[in-house]
Amino acid sequence: MSSSSKPSLFVPDPATLRKSRVPDYDGLYAASVADPESFWGNLAKDLHFTKVPSRILDWNPKTFQGRWLPDAEGNICDNALDRHVREGFANKAALIWAGDRGEEEIYTYGRLLDQTVRFAHVLKSLGVGKGDRVSIFLPPTPAQVIAMLACARLGAIHSVVFSGFSASALRSRLEDFEPRVLVTAECGYRRGKRIPLLETARTARKGLSSIATTLIVPREETSLSLEPGERVLPDLLKEVRFSGSLPPVPVSCDDPLFVLYTSGTTGKPKGVVHVQLGYMLGTYATSRMIFDLRDSDVYFCVADPGWITGHSYIVYGPLLNRATVLLSEGTPEYPDAGRHWSLIERHRVSVYYSTPTTIRLQMRFGETWPAGRDLSSLRILGSVGEPLNPEAWHWFHRVTGGHLPIMDTWWQTETGMIMVTPLPSTPEKPGSAGRPFPGVVADIVDATGKSVAPGETGTVVIRTPWPSMFRTVFRDPDRYRKYWTEIPGVFFSGDSARKDEDGYFFFLGRVDDVIKVAGHRLGTAEIESALITHPKIAEAAAIGKPDELRGEIIKVFVVLHPHATLAPPPHDEIRTHVRSELGGIAEPHEVEIVISLPKTRSGKIMRRVLKARELGLPEGDLSTLED
Ligand code: WTA
Repeated sequence: MSSSSKPSLFVPDPATLRKSRVPDYDGLYAASVADPESFWGNLAKDLHFTKVPSRILDWNPKTFQGRWLPDAEGNICDNALDRHVREGFANKAALIWAGDRGEEEIYTYGRLLDQTVRFAHVLKSLGVGKGDRVSIFLPPTPAQVIAMLACARLGAIHSVVFSGFSASALRSRLEDFEPRVLVTAECGYRRGKRIPLLETARTARKGLSSIATTLIVPREETSLSLEPGERVLPDLLKEVRFSGSLPPVPVSCDDPLFVLYTSGTTGKPKGVVHVQLGYMLGTYATSRMIFDLRDSDVYFCVADPGWITGHSYIVYGPLLNRATVLLSEGTPEYPDAGRHWSLIERHRVSVYYSTPTTIRLQMRFGETWPAGRDLSSLRILGSVGEPLNPEAWHWFHRVTGGHLPIMDTWWQTETGMIMVTPLPSTPEKPGSAGRPFPGVVADIVDATGKSVAPGETGTVVIRTPWPSMFRTVFRDPDRYRKYWTEIPGVFFSGDSARKDEDGYFFFLGRVDDVIKVAGHRLGTAEIESALITHPKIAEAAAIGKPDELRGEIIKVFVVLHPHATLAPPPHDEIRTHVRSELGGIAEPHEVEIVISLPKTRSGKIMRRVLKARELGLPEGDLSTLED
């Protein structure tokens, strides 16, 4: 992707600065890192605790465990819902849902709380209590948000699985997580097409003994024929109708809120564990200061709650800030290419948090789509998931009026919250994600951990703990340690970047075998593991290849077993196989059948060499190449 030679500077207008919550970034940043406990402690005062924190952080530099608000007790659902109702906002819209088939539903804070309490009663009746695990395999619908909040209310641990995953991808997550309850839906919709979630869930859960109940959220009016262990939500809601109040269960700083599986450098996705109280503080503070959420805002984030962006910036962060959240089930091109622009006009959206791939897709559709809509309600824009290239930045800026700040936010499933970002009050440089959020000590270093000079490329690390840091990797504490020992004592992000003279970060991509396809995080090893389960494939290698629209696309190289032949068209068989193993997001865009793969003498596939050859770049040091 090309980038303009010298980024121009976009300075906030005086009116924005006057109203800003952070009028002086440099001053606040300096103070926040000089005394992080005061910075975070002041923000924690906005939240409600059943036991008010007297201390802010216990940091153990040996185990890398950051225990935030170590002596506090509270509950994130209490802060996201009950607190606002107590303060008189029961009638404020909390959630606006725009379904794929044109459905529209509005939940006030009062109604969302009521539905969450009922759902929590249902879970409780199924034996779910504090510390119990619940998997959620639902499309982006209110039920998904309610199920998450209901788990949080009970102190239970949720694990949301993106509804686009295949049965075997869901199964591997269920196998690791071992939930007591699996919540799923009769179906979802995408581009008008029915997605048979229940069938996928049934295939995935076969023989998994931990799952006592599969709880089904119906979508259609038809009656379902149930299998053993299955219950339908409305039936259970009837049973718990008169159960009365169910106060949020106070939890402590070590109690997990969720486990979210994400791709790494091995074939198996890892369960990133976040705890309630620290995560609450981090997502509250970042949503407040980056998106400047006010009572008059309608906030629209295009992610799916099934990913970390949706967890932190559709569900928890915005609701902790008492925002009105627009949740869209659809895709940006259905029913037409103006989907988002018409949602913005219709619901008077003021904060619009998008992704580079969405913006580039909208660019392809053309300017007439946004031009035909009244976008005057917008005041802050955002982007996440992959680098936002300057061309896309400028286009996004121009079609939305030419004066709105764009928050290009950098962060990860592991960080839980945005780490590097502009603020509405800071000058922006197209192509840059700005500077670290206050209280965050992000740096760019060489292999020994030494900071690199401005202009030099290095690896992004975080030097000190932050509130919504992940606590561990589920059932795999060694994998957690690895993040902190790769470069001893600092958190290793796996991203490369360079800084300019002003300290602005320019992210360049991953340094490991993780690729980002349309913002979705995938491990090359995960794709390869899926490929070699195909009976005709002997060996496989996957690489990310730069793509104008999606940032990266997946190219795979496969070696077939001797005498194996593929039915024509040969690549379809391979694509379909990966799709059914992992889901549509992992389907390879390009397939090449090869005789052999470049390997080191110890047998490791040299993806770097494949990639260099593919892109016509120098192949680098080949001394370890076997042949
Ligand atoms: C990439 C998504 C450049 C990065 C929140 C990171 C970005 C990975 C940006 C995490 C950005 C995210 N600019 N790259 N603004 N935001 N990334 O865990 O490579 O799905 O490591 O979390 O996305 O992906 P994840």
